[in-house]
Amino acid sequence: METAISAEGLRKRYGNHQALSRVDLAVPAGTILAVLGPNGAGKTTTVRILTTLLEPDEGRATVAGYDLATQARDVRASIGLAGQYASVDERLTGRENLRLIGVLLHQGRRGAKARAEELLEQFGLVAAADRPAKTYSGGMRRRLDLAASLVGRPQVLFLDEPTTGLDLTGRRTLWDMIRNQVAEGVTVLLTTQYLEEADQLADRIAVIDRGTVIAEGTPDQLKRKLGGERLEVSAASHTDLATVERTLSALSCGDTVTHPETRTVSIPLTDGVSTIAAAAKGLELLGIEPQDFAVRRSTLDDVFLALTGQQSTHKEPKATGAIPASEEKQPA
Ligand SMILES: Nc1ncnc2c1ncn2[C@@H]1O[C@H](COP(=O)(O)OP(=O)(O)O)[C@@H](O)[C@H]1O
Ligand SMILES: [Mg+2]
Repeated sequence: METAISAEGLRKRYGNHQALSRVDLAVPAGTILAVLGPNGAGKTTTVRILTTLLEPDEGRATVAGYDLATQARDVRASIGLAGQYASVDERLTGRENLRLIGVLLHQGRRGAKARAEELLEQFGLVAAADRPAKTYSGGMRRRLDLAASLVGRPQVLFLDEPTTGLDLTGRRTLWDMIRNQVAEGVTVLLTTQYLEEADQLADRIAVIDRGTVIAEGTPDQLKRKLGGERLEVSAASHTDLATVERTLSALSCGDTVTHPETRTVSIPLTDGVSTIAAAAKGLELLGIEPQDFAVRRSTLDDVFLALTGQQSTHKEPKATGAIPASEEKQPA
């Protein structure tokens, strides 16, 4: 399959801070790659390099078949970008924004007008089309950003944290819109801090931490390779939780993860059935009757924890739309 994005050994330093120490990526045409990583991992830096906004110190890359270093203009003509550096003017209406971009892309007045109407329709923005963008809700704003990135009908689309700060409903709507682009043959590289987003949307995931790709594969491959199956036991009370935790961690030869809020402890099932039997026996001897005792395939949460030692800040916000404080402010 044709490769739409390929990057080898990208490095970038800001002052004496090594933002990217080694980034290698390969994205087959017509697929979605999620670059998954915590704040400060180097996601935006990677996107800025691949979209010609920033020059790498080292490394080479091609996008849509063009070399970043020698064919930047061709790269720019083949890509769309939406995300942390939005191209939308807040004072203009949605319709004006889309038309303006079309004119700047030399589509001509009539062409730009037609394309704007098409996108307003496609992204559910017809009713809001004549309001200034600054009056838009978070979800509408992200849809306008996405629409703006598509005015030039790009082959390759870069989305930098396209759904950060949105509630689950807004996020799902955007996921569908991104999937529609891929169905039409567009290649997508998106960055995200949300494990579920990568799991739901991506063909492949590159996990990035401290400027390096530390794991790459399909969501299933990453789960299998790094997590395998886990035994998960929920205690009936907080008193029991401590005993469950002690019993399971004695059997665990990997990370023991405790979620106090759900009174759940989980361990990797390295020895399969014998670990399950030992856990059941141990708890029974101590007179503990668990509320729940289950084996499950590890989630990307487990994978991420195993890879980076970080966990809770990468959790999904609840469907109620609460935004964790850490996500309200994005660094440049
Ligand atoms: N213009 C800049 N000057 C100095 N440091 C920067 C600059 N941009 C980003 N950084 C630093 O580089 C690292 C990677 O940043 P970034 O690519 O924005 O990460 P992410 O998008 O994954 O949150 C962070 O430690 C960030 O603070
Ligand atoms: Mg960023």
